[in-house]
Amino acid sequence: MNNLFKFTIYVFTALGVAWLAFVVGAREQYGDLSPTAEVLDEDGSIPQDADLFPHSLPGIAEQGAKDYLALGCMTCHTQQVRMVEAGFDVERGWGKRPSVPRDYILQEHVLIGNTRVGPDLANLGLRGHTLEWLHQHLFEPQALIPESVCQPSPFLYEESAEETPGYIEISSMESAARFIKPTPRAERLVAYLQALKQNYELPEMAYVETEDELTDSMELEISSETDSANDENASSGAPTWLAEQISSGKEIYMKAAPGGGLCFTCHQANGQGLAGQFPPLAGSDWVLGDKEKLIKISLYGLMGPIQVNGVDYNGVMVSPGIPPGSLTDQQVADVLTYIRNDWGNSATAVTPNEVASVRASIKDRAPMQMWTAAELNDEQP
Ligand code: HEC
Ligand code: HEC
Repeated sequence: MNNLFKFTIYVFTALGVAWLAFVVGAREQYGDLSPTAEVLDEDGSIPQDADLFPHSLPGIAEQGAKDYLALGCMTCHTQQVRMVEAGFDVERGWGKRPSVPRDYILQEHVLIGNTRVGPDLANLGLRGHTLEWLHQHLFEPQALIPESVCQPSPFLYEESAEETPGYIEISSMESAARFIKPTPRAERLVAYLQALKQNYELPEMAYVETEDELTDSMELEISSETDSANDENASSGAPTWLAEQISSGKEIYMKAAPGGGLCFTCHQANGQGLAGQFPPLAGSDWVLGDKEKLIKISLYGLMGPIQVNGVDYNGVMVSPGIPPGSLTDQQVADVLTYIRNDWGNSATAVTPNEVASVRASIKDRAPMQMWTAAELNDEQP
């Protein structure tokens, strides 16, 4: 009996503490949040006639939120740009700053989600997709991005095989052109997607500075190389084809979308990697040395102990590309030529043919099976 009494007290204490923390505590922290100005006056008050953020969603977008919820989009998409310490969301271009609680206060349905199979959508409305693109993507993502695993929603559209005024054309490689007309539900959902944007600063969270400046200066270097190569008198400048390969390779290195390599998120825009986690590409023998090994790494990834510039690493790099392993021979050749020729690196270009022949030589390897440094080093040519 005594035990039952104690047990009951414990249960209520546990529930009480949880209630205090999650309900009272959360209300205390976030309950009184209201829209505010991007910059406050010195005394902490909101300047007169300042525009207040966040804005509320248009009514049609609020309705679209219900469809977003009902169709289960949240199972694969989040709507929260993570803190800078927690990941690379800002570098990936998913937002200009981490999301904060105030961003959501005016939304009737807060759909943050917790699993990311697809990209974060907190700032989808800022990515420059046209209305047409969003409808095409919602109807059948695979018509735009063949490998996409995003869920198609053809039931939100009326379909026609003939060109009809007001219909949007869907052309994919597999099938003949089709034409679609959005139902009101599709209109609402797309209005919601377009309204997703955190394009304002808040007193508690300013935009994060990115490495744009660095990138711009690198572009200048490359384009001046191109110029001098075009100049007929320039015998010392890089040839045009090389400058082109380097600049397209740099794009792949920096790109966080299909066709990109996302390399910069780990190896950084300056090629220096991150101490203890991601090895540098600048000055690395792996980058400047044997092309075959380098190509193998770029096709299948790398894991386990490795020494780079005299420092030991033990990490995992899955097969590069978005989605993994999808880089074409040309893309691999370009990105490798780029990393062999920036940040003080200087080495011969890698050609698509070289990539193709290495790819053919390892075609029986299981897909996605990463190399180890030991395996690459022991292999006889
Ligand atoms: C099975 C997981 C999954 C589900 C469910 C899903 N998506 Fe996706 N989504 C993805 C993936 C993966 C991508 C990236 C490839 C692409 O762009 O198609 C993506 C991409 C997108 C994009 C393009 C994002 C960008 O930055 O270009 C939009 C818009 C989108 N999804 C909307 C939706 C909507 C709306 C729903 C619900 C109807 C939904 N998704 C359901 C996985 C999913
Ligand atoms: C998700 C993070 C990540 C991404 C993205 C990534 N790498 Fe790596 N990379 C690593 C890690 C971790 C290692 C070390 C693996 C090990 O410890 O065996 C590595 C090793 C390497 C190496 C050999 C070691 C060195 O530093 O020279 C090369 C070359 C390389 N990566 C090139 C690339 C290229 C090119 C891309 C883009 C196409 C890329 N990586 C994308 C994490 C990444």
